[in-house]
Amino acid sequence: MLIQIQTSEVDKSEEGEVRRRLSITGQGIHTDGHEKAMLACVRRNNVTGAENQYFADLDGKHPLCQPRVLQEGDISFFTDNELYHYVSSAGPEDPTVDMARTMLLMHYPAEDVLVGAANPNNDGGTRKSEIKLREYERRVSRRGSLRDALSYPPESRTIFL
Ligand SMILES: [Fe+2]
Repeated sequence: MLIQIQTSEVDKSEEGEVRRRLSITGQGIHTDGHEKAMLACVRRNNVTGAENQYFADLDGKHPLCQPRVLQEGDISFFTDNELYHYVSSAGPEDPTVDMARTMLLMHYPAEDVLVGAANPNNDGGTRKSEIKLREYERRVSRRGSLRDALSYPPESRTIFL
C-alpha cells in the first residue's frame, strides 16, 4: 500500500503581488495506475477551488458526479482502475493570508510503483501532462529550493507499507 501526505502551500502575497489559481497536482483527468484509492482532506486553510471530480473517460466528456470540495475530515474512496479523477486548480481565498491544503492519499497495490512497472490491472491509459514535474525537480536542483522553482509547490511524503 502506498501512503502519501501531500501539502500544497501558497505564501500570502506581498503588496502588489498577484496570486492566481494554479494546478495543485500538475495533472489533468487521470488514473494513478492503481486499483483502489482513497483521498482524505487533512487541512484546508484559506483555499478556493481544488474541487474533486470523477469521470468515465480521459477527455472529461462523461462526468460521473458534480465537482465537490473535500473539506477537512472528508474522505473519498474510489476504484482507480475503473474511473478517472481530477482536482481543479486552487488558490488562496484571501491572498493576504497563507494558503495550505493537505491531503492523505492511499493507493493499493504499491509494489508496481516500487519497481517502476505498470499495473496490469489498471490499463486506463494516460495523456501527456503540460506540467512536467521532473522538469520542476531539475529547476529545484539548479536553484536550490522548491519554492524558488515553483510558485505552487506540491510537497509530498511517501510511505511504502
Ligand atoms: Fe491522482
